[in-house]
Amino acid sequence: MSAAQPSAQNQSVLSFDELKSRLEPFQQTQLLRFWDSLDSNQQTHLSQQIAQVDFAQLKTLVEGNDKSVDFGELAARAAMPQAVASDGSGCDWTLEQAQQRGEEALRSGEIATVLVAGGQGTRLGFDQPKGMFPVGPVSERTLFQFFADRLIAAGEKYGVDVPLYLMTSEATHEDTRRYFEKNDYLGLKPEQVTIFQQGTMPAVDAATGDVLMADKGSLALSPDGHGGTLRALSRNGCMDEMRKNGRKHLFYFQVDNPLVGLCDPVFIGHHLLACSEMTTQVIRKRYPTEKVGNVVEIDGQTQIIEYSDLPDSAAEMTNSDGSLKLWAGNIAVHLFDLDFLERMLQLDASLPIHRASKKVPHVDAEGQQVKPDSPNATKFEQFIFDLLPHAKNTIVCEANPADAFAPVKNANGAATDTPELARQAICDLHRRWLRSCGVTVDDSVKVEINPRFAMDPAELSEKLGESGQTAAEQTISTDQYFC
Ligand code: UD1
Repeated sequence: MSAAQPSAQNQSVLSFDELKSRLEPFQQTQLLRFWDSLDSNQQTHLSQQIAQVDFAQLKTLVEGNDKSVDFGELAARAAMPQAVASDGSGCDWTLEQAQQRGEEALRSGEIATVLVAGGQGTRLGFDQPKGMFPVGPVSERTLFQFFADRLIAAGEKYGVDVPLYLMTSEATHEDTRRYFEKNDYLGLKPEQVTIFQQGTMPAVDAATGDVLMADKGSLALSPDGHGGTLRALSRNGCMDEMRKNGRKHLFYFQVDNPLVGLCDPVFIGHHLLACSEMTTQVIRKRYPTEKVGNVVEIDGQTQIIEYSDLPDSAAEMTNSDGSLKLWAGNIAVHLFDLDFLERMLQLDASLPIHRASKKVPHVDAEGQQVKPDSPNATKFEQFIFDLLPHAKNTIVCEANPADAFAPVKNANGAATDTPELARQAICDLHRRWLRSCGVTVDDSVKVEINPRFAMDPAELSEKLGESGQTAAEQTISTDQYFC
C-alpha cells in the first residue's frame, strides 16, 4: 500500500495543472478548491501531500470493492491454533530449554524491541501520549518508564543494550520525543532509543467519499494503523540498522500494558525452538466478548479476527464440554523474525485495510472549520497482526492474564481496562511474588516491584535474602516500592 507519508522534503512539487489531472479521474479536485488563496509554501505542502496518496487504491476502498470478509462464517469454521501453555505443555521442549534458548538470544544481542505508541488514547481521556500516563500504583511511574525499567533490567542481566524502536504518530511524536529528552531517556542510553513516526492515510467524508481537508492547505490525514510499522521502520532506516547490528528478532508490544513480559526469555525461546517466523502471546479470554482479538486457525493458517469484527454469536460459541471455542485472546505481543519482515516488505504484503467510522474535524466547501459531534468520516488502517497468515511455523504462547496483561484503555469508572484496575493488577501480582518468597503482606497494602530490583519471584527471593532477614521473617504493613 502506498500511504501518504509524514515528511516529503525530497518530493518534486507538482503544478496546479498536474495535480488537477491527477485528481480528476478520481473526482477529488475539491482538494484544490483553495489553491489560489495559499502562499507558495502552503501550495508546496499541499502538492506534496497529494502526490503521496494512492487515489486509485483509495477509490477502491471508498467504493468497497476491495475484498470484504464474512467474519461470522470464518469464525464458524475456525479451529484453534497450536498453543504452548504457560506450564510448558503443548511443545516438544521444556520450559527450562525455552528459557535457556531465549537467554542465549538475548545475551548475543539478537533481540530488538518495537513499541507502537501512535494511538491517541481517546478512550482514556488523557490528552498526552498514553506512554506518559502515570500507572505505577506506588511509584506513579509512567507506562514509558515501566518499559524502560524492564529494558534496563534485561540489559543488566544479559549484558547487552536491548534497542527500543518507538513508533509515534503525528499526534504523539513531539511530546514523546521531548519527554524522553527531558527525562534522560528514562535511564536508557540515548543511542538505544529510536523514536520514529508512522505513516498516514487520508480520511474521507463517509457520505461522499471526498478526501477531507484539515485546513485550506492540508489533507485530513490519520495514522495508517500499526500495520504501518513495517513500512515506517524501513523508511526510517531502522531495518538496515537492526541488520547492521546483528539483530535477528523483533519483540513487538503496545503502549497500554504495564505488565507486558518485555523480552521474556521463555517466550523468545519458544519462538526460536519452534523455528517460528511470527509468534503471538495470548491469554485465555475471561469472558466471550472480551475486547481482544481472537487468534484462530483457518484453512491451516493462523490469523486474528478482531473483536470488533466478530459477531457476539460467534464469540459465544462453546465446545461440547462447555468451554469457550474461540478462547485465545491477542494481547498484542508478537515476536518477528527480521528475515520474515524483510520478505514481507519486499512483497509489500498488501495487508487488508480496515475501515473505522470516526469524527474528523475539517474545513467545508466555504473554508469554515467543522467540528462534528457524530462520526462523519471513514478512516483506513492496517493491522500488524494481518502478517500472521504469511508467516511459517507460527505458534501461539499462552500467558496467564494476571501475570502479563493489565491494559490501560478506558478512563476510571469503566467496567474494564482502567488505570485503577491496572494498578490493582500490578499490586496483586507483586503481592503474590512476595508471598511466594514467604513474606507476609497485608491485603490492604500496595506493593510495587521495579524490574530493576527483581524481574521475577526467583530474583526477588535472592534480593530479599540480602537484607540479612529471611523472607519469612519479613512483614509488609505499609505501601512499599521495591526499586
Ligand atoms: C488492540 C488489538 C486487539 C488486542 C488488544 C490488546 C488492534 C486493532 N487490536 O486493541 O486485537 O486484543 O489491543 O490490548 O490493535 N497504534 C499505533 N498507531 C495506530 C493505531 C494504533 O501506534 O495507527 C497503537 C496504539 O498506540 C496502541 C496499539 O496500537 O499501542 C493498539 O491500538 P488500539 O487501537 O488501542 O487497539 P485496541 O482496540 O486496544
